[in-house]
Amino acid sequence: MADAFLSFAVQKLGDFLIQQISLRKNLRKEIEWLRNELLFIQSFLKDAEQKQYGDNRVQQWVFEINSIANDAVAILETYSFEAGKGASRVKACACICRKEKKFYNVSKEIQSLKQQIMDISRKRETYGITNINSNAGEGPSNQSAMVRTLRRTTSYVDDQDYIFVGLQDVVQALLAQLLKAEPRRSVVSIYGMGGLGKTTLARNLYRSPNMVSSFPTRAWICVSQEYNTMDLLKTTIKSIQGRTKETLQLLETMTEGDLEFHLHDLLKERKYLVVVDDVWQREAWESLKRAFPDGKNGSRVIITTRKEDVAERADDRGFGHELRFLSQEESWDLFCRKLLDVGAMVPEMESLAKDMVEKCRGLPLAIVVLSGLLSHRGGVDKWQEVKDHLWKNIMKDKSIEISCILSLSYNDLSTVLKQCFLYFGIFPEDQVLKAENIIRLWMAEGFVPNGDERMEDVAEGFLNELIRRSLVQVVDTFWEKVTDCRVHDLLRDLAIKKGIGGKLL
Ligand SMILES: Nc1ncnc2c1ncn2[C@@H]1O[C@H](COP(=O)(O)OP(=O)(O)OP(=O)(O)O)[C@@H](O)[C@H]1O
Ligand SMILES: [Mg+2]
Repeated sequence: MADAFLSFAVQKLGDFLIQQISLRKNLRKEIEWLRNELLFIQSFLKDAEQKQYGDNRVQQWVFEINSIANDAVAILETYSFEAGKGASRVKACACICRKEKKFYNVSKEIQSLKQQIMDISRKRETYGITNINSNAGEGPSNQSAMVRTLRRTTSYVDDQDYIFVGLQDVVQALLAQLLKAEPRRSVVSIYGMGGLGKTTLARNLYRSPNMVSSFPTRAWICVSQEYNTMDLLKTTIKSIQGRTKETLQLLETMTEGDLEFHLHDLLKERKYLVVVDDVWQREAWESLKRAFPDGKNGSRVIITTRKEDVAERADDRGFGHELRFLSQEESWDLFCRKLLDVGAMVPEMESLAKDMVEKCRGLPLAIVVLSGLLSHRGGVDKWQEVKDHLWKNIMKDKSIEISCILSLSYNDLSTVLKQCFLYFGIFPEDQVLKAENIIRLWMAEGFVPNGDERMEDVAEGFLNELIRRSLVQVVDTFWEKVTDCRVHDLLRDLAIKKGIGGKLL
């Protein structure tokens, strides 16, 4: 496990060096040093992982390495995030140096990691941890494999996943509500049917520059149908307080009451914004609410829910917003922006697509999946086939049943992609999944063919194809590479249905 994490960090550092062409010379040297040290330490991990069960000090040693690797990745992510704010990546690179001090003192942080790594190396000798890595001695070839990995192209996902279309009137109204000078902690609830874009809208508000600068403390909690209040409280505390070893240990000893009290205490002096996403029962918010103090400093809570009564009763004087469907123009815009090759859409195809998009009745999930499906089917005939199929299942109100679009998109997958997609059915609803873990699990299940290309790359290609088809959503990326993803509830239901039908689940 530690090994996997260390390799991840080494890879991230390498990617960072490749991408950050305008990095200051000293800083580049320090990051190179850090990467090489972590690479070196990796060769001692096997021994350490074996010895840690009999020796607490070695266990601590492994933990410290993990946390250094973690910190190194976190520093780069913060740096990239700050540098990328509101600017294109090219511009961001150019202004990194100028704004370096203001943004983040990376150099200082790395100095501190350097110190910790030197301590680690000293302890390694004291504890007698040796290099028993089975790959030891394969230096050059190993090294070149590593370089290949580091140089592997990372631009699998483009900005498509952060596309936010239309709803500008809604965004403005909600921002005004959230930013107004009302000291009382108030709740803004967004409600509407599944796939309407509540989470996407909340994410857009959460990331909006005005909100980022107005709320120094921000947290995102995803509740879903089967929630556990203690876990939600812990997640919130971790995202505010950081994931230090002390915090993690402390949280494990706490009862629900302690957690509530701790979070309350943590937030009482702060102006915070919390998004409580996908609430199904009123009780969920009721039990969390006690931990969110009203310090009369303008703190805000955004709740998203499919249920009107949850939205209406979240706060006596709160603001419930029923999210509207997209207009026809917005729907068409979303369809085109999600289409892989708009240029290849000849007029006959455009006319077919317009008919189909119209029947999605402004439901974004239906539109993005339809766009993903048509992106992989070239030509007028193929699009006509899709339309014919959908028209056979048209409902009384003349709209297309969303499950029909989702099913069609699933049926269009190759066998191996079907297997990969169905696999998402085993995870809990709304769970954010590490792309790296999914890839490993697919490989372990034997879904990924073994050929000339690295299996990880092939599996990553599968994930990206599911993303391009909008069957999987991107939650987070690092240098354009997906790091976290999830499957929309309605698609997860489909995966479960098909998986049970095919006796896979
Ligand atoms: N305004 C938008 N611009 C671009 N894409 C959108 C927009 N709204 C929604 N989408 C797309 O539609 C999909 C479904 O949206 P989302 O997950 O936000 O729905 P939801 O209302 O939160 O559904 P649920 O009730 O199931 O949680 C997302 O994958 C997103 O890609
Ligand atoms: Mg949602």
